[in-house]
Amino acid sequence: MKRDFLQIVDFSRDELFELFQLCADLKKKTKSGHQHHMLKGKTLAMLFQKPSTRTRVSFEVGMYQLGGHALYLSPNEVGLGKRESVADVARVLSRFNDGIMARVFGHDLVEGLAQHASVPVINGLSDLCHPCQVLGDIFTIEEHKGRYEKLSIAFIGDGNNVANSWINLAGRLELDLRIGCPEGYDPHQGLLERARQQGRSEIRVIHDPIEAVRGADVIYTDVWASMGQEEETAARKRIFAPYQVNSALLEHAAQDCLVEHCLPAHRGDEITDDVIDGAHSVVFDEAENRLHIQKAIMVKLMVD
Ligand code: CP
Ligand code: NVA
Repeated sequence: MKRDFLQIVDFSRDELFELFQLCADLKKKTKSGHQHHMLKGKTLAMLFQKPSTRTRVSFEVGMYQLGGHALYLSPNEVGLGKRESVADVARVLSRFNDGIMARVFGHDLVEGLAQHASVPVINGLSDLCHPCQVLGDIFTIEEHKGRYEKLSIAFIGDGNNVANSWINLAGRLELDLRIGCPEGYDPHQGLLERARQQGRSEIRVIHDPIEAVRGADVIYTDVWASMGQEEETAARKRIFAPYQVNSALLEHAAQDCLVEHCLPAHRGDEITDDVIDGAHSVVFDEAENRLHIQKAIMVKLMVD
């Protein structure tokens, strides 16, 4: 039966570790110039309702490196749920392709695609979560820290899709996760409760950014106004100003802390130049690892 990847919890803990191993193997092979055409002759439809640099390029390059082909469908083309119903788009794309990757506004759209597609559907970001991103992020942390668990991660900023995916991950791996966000910008309550019920991780929402980063192994941030929230940009700049990841905030984290950002960054807002370009930052390793982790995800879902 086909499987989808809409949220990190779609994979069991064991499957996540298998995925990280596959990701490491594929990355090593790619770096040494080996070809690994595990998706030879297959195609991936990439459906975008929002802009993208990393997601589009990494999936497209990933499919090419695996011997397949990816098709870019821009926000103006398909009209998901408007020009045509989500169910019909899913059915039609399934007749031409071996997989669908979608970047959407409402998470229900990616769920609808998965429900009606006969091929695997991968969430390339929804308003609820960004699962491929956070799997690449934890893989990057392991490369630098040598472990996937027993890490304190401070997510500083908006309790939005990326923060929600960290919460999902904390349901599967043992983490000390702090979400440092302004009041009123908390992460999704249902996902938080589900992850806490898993009982693996301590997950706290802390409204004081200094408390949130205290002794942390990793400081993570994301834009203050996500795609679709552009009209809130000015108000959010005022509200989130105390949550800027700058050198003064880093003073409160572990001395050897890593700094991550999913990108695109709004330099001077959620993160300062000296931090994103500084010694603690691994943001471009993170960006590269989107390629390797997504290749592993596609192989897991799309190889017969
Ligand atoms: N981090 C990320 O998903 O980047 P894009 O929005 O450029 O795809
Ligand atoms: N939270 C951001 C992530 C971008 C990769 C957004 O949804 O725009």
